[in-house]
Amino acid sequence: MPLPSSSVPGTAEADAALAALDTRRSVPPMQLGLPAPDQPTLLRMLRSAVRVPDHGKRVPFRFLAIRGAARDALGERLAVRSLQRDPEASDAVIAKDRARFSHAPLVVTVVARLGPDEKIPEQERLLSAGCVCFALLQAAHALGFGAVWLTGWAAYDAEVARWLGLAPDERVVGFVHIGTPKLHVPERDRPDPRELLSDWIPA
Ligand SMILES: Cc1cc2nc3c(=O)[nH]c(=O)nc-3n(C[C@H](O)[C@H](O)[C@H](O)COP(=O)(O)O)c2cc1C
Repeated sequence: MPLPSSSVPGTAEADAALAALDTRRSVPPMQLGLPAPDQPTLLRMLRSAVRVPDHGKRVPFRFLAIRGAARDALGERLAVRSLQRDPEASDAVIAKDRARFSHAPLVVTVVARLGPDEKIPEQERLLSAGCVCFALLQAAHALGFGAVWLTGWAAYDAEVARWLGLAPDERVVGFVHIGTPKLHVPERDRPDPRELLSDWIPA
């Protein structure tokens, strides 16, 4: 059932802002082609992406772009690592791992920086880094690109972290694959906020 329209009087700006939020959809990496955002466009996206709530202004994130030949190079290493992790892995699994970073022309690795902090809990810093991933998806969409936030085993593998140059207190929060959508991705079911919202009633 469609949601009733808001009782808040709309403005063109509000409608446009909500339309941008409501029309975003993830695009699978295989459906992301050239052109990729160029460097100024990527920096423009990141300018929006870093505008996240950040308790204590810790800036608990950084970015690592994987593009060009680096994508295949990482894929080759992933294929080897995949077989190390599971010597029984099928050829199909290895081939999938080899190609993981080669579909979209640009993969932005969002890295959380989680060093010791006496005041701001690690969870809050990790959440800020997660918000960055989402804001980056929104910015890519706003500029007409497609994007998807993926993790997979590579995001949690110590050897991959070493290749990427992560410090011991850093973590991959997401690989955000970005490119130009090759097709229109159909909408998927979305949660109904009416089923998720309740009022707290003091006992
Ligand atoms: C932290 C995180 C990690 C994800 N990792 C994967 C993944 O490895 N593989 C996958 O198919 N989807 C993954 N997803 C889901 C996709 O990003 C995306 O949400 C999903 O394709 C639905 O698309 P939507 O953004 O249009 O809702 C992940 C989502 C989040 C938040």
